Order: sequence, then C-alpha cells, then structure tokens
Amino acid sequence: MLRTFLLSSSLLLVCFLSVTAQEPPPAGQANPVKPTPESQAHAKKIWGYDCALCHGEKGDGKGDVADSMKLTLRDYTKPDSLKDMTDSQMFDIIVKGKGQMPGEEGRAKPDDVWNLVIYIRSMSKKG
Ligand code: HEC
Repeated sequence: MLRTFLLSSSLLLVCFLSVTAQEPPPAGQANPVKPTPESQAHAKKIWGYDCALCHGEKGDGKGDVADSMKLTLRDYTKPDSLKDMTDSQMFDIIVKGKGQMPGEEGRAKPDDVWNLVIYIRSMSKKG
C-alpha cells in the first residue's frame, strides 16, 4: 500500500516537473523563441529589407534614411547600447513602431520579431 502510494506520487511529481519544464516563460518577460540558423537567417533578411535603411546593415545606426531624416540612432554594435531594454520592450517597439520608426505589425510574425530581437542583440558580439 505504501509502496503504491510512493510510486504513484513520484510518478505524479515526474509528470508535474516535465510539464512545468516545458511551460514557456510568462508572456512579456523573456524571449520565448529559440534561435536556429534558419530563423536567424530569416531575421537577417527582414533586417536587410525593413530595418537596415535606418539602423544600418551592421546595426550601427548609420543607414541612408537615418541620415536624410536626421535620426539619432543607437549603435547596436556597442555592447552597452541596449542594456536598458528588455527583449519584450524591443519586441513592442518593433511591432508597434515608436516615434519616427514604423512598426512591423501585420508584416512580420511574432516569431520573426523575437528572432529580430535576438539578431539585434547578437550585433555587438561580431567583433
Ligand atoms: C524610418 C527609420 C526606421 C526604420 C525603418 C526602423 N527603425 Fe527602429 N528605430 C528608429 C528610431 C528613430 C528609433 C528610436 C525611437 C524613439 O525612441 O523615439 C528606433 C528604435 C528601435 C528599437 C528600440 C531600441 C532603440 O534603438 O531605441 C528597436 C529594437 C528597433 N528600432 C528595431 C527595428 C527593427 C527590427 C526594424 C525593422 C523591422 C526597424 N527598427 C526599422 C528608426 C527606424
């Protein structure tokens, strides 16, 4: 009897742990996406089409449009440039836009936007 009890409760515990381990982080906190070489290549493509004109191909903030609109942009190649921002704040700005930046709403899927966040953060790590 005790044996069955212990067995079933440990089974329950195992189930519980495996369920909680697969639970994604609460929305709006951490980046829920695991980057793959393909998803990052796709993010790079979107960046090239929709973002580089302002933020610059390398993310240094020196795109042609930024220059003609006289925008002052952060330099994402500097490790400190985004340390005051969470991934979800970046996600919101990319989706909705901010100030003179147009949002991606309706163009990029949420997963693509999360991958863009990861892509942007990786820009300071490329030497
Ligand atoms: C028309 C120029 C323009 C384009 C195109 C543009 N941005 Fe921006 N972006 C800005 C400006 C200006 C800001 C600063 C907004 C503010 O704080 O008022 C900004 C801010 C951001 C921020 C918040 C961090 C920061 O630097 O202040 C992120 C993240 C970002 N852009 C990502 C993107 C991505 C990803 C794309 C392409 C999908 C994109 N941007 C396209 C102009 C642009």
